[in-house]
Amino acid sequence: MTLTPQWLDELRSRVTLSTLIGRTVKVTRAGREFKACCPFHNEKTPSFTINDEKGFYHCFGCSAHGDAIRWMTDQRGLSFMDAVKELAAEAGMEVPAADPRAAKKAEEAASLRDVVQGAADWFTQQLDSSNGAPARAYLVKRGISEPTRRAFGFGLAPDSRSALKEALKKFPTAMLVESGMLIAVEGKEPYDRFRGRLMIPIRDARGRVIAFGGRILGDGEPKYLNSPDTPLFDKGRVLYNLDKASPASRQTNRIIVVEGYMDVIALAEAGIADAVAPLGTALTEAQLGLIWRMVPVPVLCFDGDAAGQKAAMRAAMRALPLLRPGFSLAFATLPPGQDPDDIVRARGADGFTTLLDDAQPLVERLWAHEVAAGSLATPEERAALKTRLLAHADAVEDPDVRHHYREAFRERIDGLFARKQPERPQRQPWTPNPPRGGGGNRRFGPDPRLQPPGDETRMIGQEGIAAPYAASLLGGLLRFPEALRRNEEVLTRLPMPDSGDAELLGIMLDIAMRQEGLDCEGLLAILEPMKVYNRAMTLLRADGMHFSFNRRLESNDEVAAARETALRDLDEYIGVLVTQPEIRARLAEATADFQRTMDDEGLARQQKLRAMDEDLTRRLAALSDSSQS
Ligand code: UTP
Ligand code: MN
Repeated sequence: MTLTPQWLDELRSRVTLSTLIGRTVKVTRAGREFKACCPFHNEKTPSFTINDEKGFYHCFGCSAHGDAIRWMTDQRGLSFMDAVKELAAEAGMEVPAADPRAAKKAEEAASLRDVVQGAADWFTQQLDSSNGAPARAYLVKRGISEPTRRAFGFGLAPDSRSALKEALKKFPTAMLVESGMLIAVEGKEPYDRFRGRLMIPIRDARGRVIAFGGRILGDGEPKYLNSPDTPLFDKGRVLYNLDKASPASRQTNRIIVVEGYMDVIALAEAGIADAVAPLGTALTEAQLGLIWRMVPVPVLCFDGDAAGQKAAMRAAMRALPLLRPGFSLAFATLPPGQDPDDIVRARGADGFTTLLDDAQPLVERLWAHEVAAGSLATPEERAALKTRLLAHADAVEDPDVRHHYREAFRERIDGLFARKQPERPQRQPWTPNPPRGGGGNRRFGPDPRLQPPGDETRMIGQEGIAAPYAASLLGGLLRFPEALRRNEEVLTRLPMPDSGDAELLGIMLDIAMRQEGLDCEGLLAILEPMKVYNRAMTLLRADGMHFSFNRRLESNDEVAAARETALRDLDEYIGVLVTQPEIRARLAEATADFQRTMDDEGLARQQKLRAMDEDLTRRLAALSDSSQS
């Protein structure tokens, strides 16, 4: 049995001493402490004090002094172990070993360890065998050398539902299931979880295998499969490569947090040994705690794309309440679309560490994010910036750190607005087609259907146009094929989210370019024998968004009447669809640039692009509005 000082500290910290003592003697609050008549000597006026924060009692009369455990031994007369057990039971802590239940659990864990270690050994054998040739070739292709492959214990799970089960049959099936190696489904024989995958053992802080990540060889879904949580493996409390990174960090005084285990391994291959990764989830509090035990300011690496930047903010929010004097995070931003693996392969270890040198402190990251998040043209908008920043500061629980965050944000806000503000650009950024007439009474502000709250739900992403927009567009083009010819050039550039839709659009463009004066019926007649016809019919029947060109038209007269408005709207719609992804991409770039340089010019450019983006969104909303009336 080993009761470590840390474990005993944890136990003491979970016990509220005044409550414990209050069960035996009457205690009353006195400021930050509690008072009682001393139970160790006879007295009428209380000289016995209890300090919950420090976890000590002290009697000024008889000098009795101690903590919760001492109270249990001296006042209740228990042995040290019994005192510990009783307190632990109350605190919901498991006494290591000795206690028979804990001993059983520890024993079980030991045998589950044998199972996963057995699996790891067998996977390695498979990779070394002749069956493993393609997987070994894959590793070579990824630039992973044999020493690195061995150091990280790579293995191979063959594409079989029973090979591992057979290989580990000396263990009871129930244990194979409990260790996560087999999947048990009601009414079926348990079968191998990992099939046809490159296996990467996940180790605990002491280097013992506790779980696996399996990467598909080549393409396929899911790309990575992890062990489920088991008695050995709680993925929110484990960091990949902690066992190797922790000693390495003592040399470098640095910890790098990356997103994936292949990134960790690629960095190790390049000679950077102090990297860890969470296991497919955002960093948890427990993981932040583990990292802060190694170094006070770990560097988190995030992709420079929109998703990466969102992830960075999520990590920042998670960390804020936990900040303590001296402990923080730094954020390294990678070029958009690249992970550390790509970067060390392209630029070497030095190329990667250069990016780390530019890492932003947490306070800077929050500031840059909020300043770039919205327009700052009006007093209200500026006040809102201040509110958002102070809310971040208020999330910090430590009073000293909180105070300094507030000060830092206040200073920066004053500095920013003392400078000359960039002019808000005029709202006429781009006109692909002549302006619409009669726009005077458009409702102002985006249509809530078009712009749900929050960036993440915007329908047009940097990557192209979202599916509902694509469906509306295709529906419109099917009804009014004239729009195909006149927008041919931009339509060929438009990134469609679905390959079937891209094909349909391509075919429609071909047809329209060959045949002038095409109408809906004529187009459908040509499409009918083709594979895309079904999709075209589905789009025509769909109740899509509320645009004039998506309305169902029953007769030729109705088509004729709607034609002019619909075509005009469709032209404008196409213009916005083509432009917005470009503007969004430039906005993301400008935001990233500004967050790096923090200069006035960069902010002006960023704000201008944002205004253009908002304007486009408004135009989409107006298009859908005008068809309602
Ligand atoms: P990525 O998709 O970024 O993978 O996932 P990667 O590290 O670049 O991998 P390669 O280079 O294509 O091989 C990053 C992490 O997200 C989790 C894994 O933990 C992975 O390391 N993940 C990803 C999953 O758990 N499941 C998935 O299907 C994909
Ligand atoms: Mn990768």
